[in-house]
Amino acid sequence: MEMKRILSGIKPTGAPHLGNYFGMMRPCIALQEQGEAFYFIADYHALTTVRDAADLRAHTRGVALDFLACGLDPARAVLFRQSDVPEHTELAWILSCVTPMPMLENCHAYKDHVAKDRTPNHGLFAYPVLMAADILLYDSNVVPVGRDQKQHVEVTRDLASLMNRLYAKSAPIFTVPEASILPNVATVIGLDGQKMSKSYNNTIPLFEDEKPLRKKIMGIVTDSTPVESPKDPAGSTIVALYRLFASDAEVAKLEEDFRAGGTGYGDFKKRLFDALWEFFRPMREKRAALAADPGHVEKVLHDGAQRARAVAVRTMERVRAAVGLR
Ligand code: ADP
Ligand code: TRP
Repeated sequence: MEMKRILSGIKPTGAPHLGNYFGMMRPCIALQEQGEAFYFIADYHALTTVRDAADLRAHTRGVALDFLACGLDPARAVLFRQSDVPEHTELAWILSCVTPMPMLENCHAYKDHVAKDRTPNHGLFAYPVLMAADILLYDSNVVPVGRDQKQHVEVTRDLASLMNRLYAKSAPIFTVPEASILPNVATVIGLDGQKMSKSYNNTIPLFEDEKPLRKKIMGIVTDSTPVESPKDPAGSTIVALYRLFASDAEVAKLEEDFRAGGTGYGDFKKRLFDALWEFFRPMREKRAALAADPGHVEKVLHDGAQRARAVAVRTMERVRAAVGLR
């Protein structure tokens, strides 16, 4: 059987958080054993919102470090920076020339922007086309992403089929990919009970220092049930987050203590903090070791770019020939 090609990307728009870890990074790391994996830091995508060059560079390095600390193995998976492979933007242009506008007008990131009366830039509008290029350049079969990205993978599938219909002669030009959304990684909720997202300012970053992290956890929004009263574990942000780190028995115990009354939310938050801090301890230690060697991340990204580019250049030769750019 042929090896499956697995690909995913993450935007360097801030420090990776629990939603990114459980929704994307951890499944990607697990999948690196099962095929030929390409993971990239989507810095072209980040340009739709990040306006500070130093920030973009720092976040790009930070995301790479976090990913490596969490277990991405650069000997197995190709880790690279999107902008090191300019073929992504070339393919995006070619795809955009066949993309019907209504397909993009229907995409949720754009629609949300318009619904909030904000003026989207063209990059944000065209974002799903660049994402399709990211995926199709590598003949990806599997795209592990959180639920919120499913629509973008659908757009990719539509564009791949459309290009194949329009241009394929004997063999199809593009492989039509599948999104892989793990059923048990529902959306991780943030400090305020909404979806955890950098854009909502409600995130729990993976590798924050102890003091500010503790402060964030203590700031989880709760209701005003008094200490002595029973509390409802259903719908509690504390319980939902604790479930990410604790065993079923530990979660059952926390829920029981909620219902029993006599314990305040502050104590439950401390329990959550301890579980989280322990969970990331080995990764935190690995991150510190990696960060101590400043050239390491650059080297990994440089090697990754070369391996990625070798594939991308070949795909572009095929695409250019198919559309008549040669
Ligand atoms: P953000 O919303 O914080 O900007 P990104 O859009 O950069 O996050 O997401 C990167 C990856 O992490 C995507 O695959 C996305 O689906 C996943 N992800 C982000 N937030 C969550 C969440 N709260 N729960 C589950 N997965 C998430
Ligand atoms: N759009 C994705 C996000 O916001 C990041 C991304 C860019 C991506 N290109 C991709 C994910 C290609 C998977 C495949 O999270």
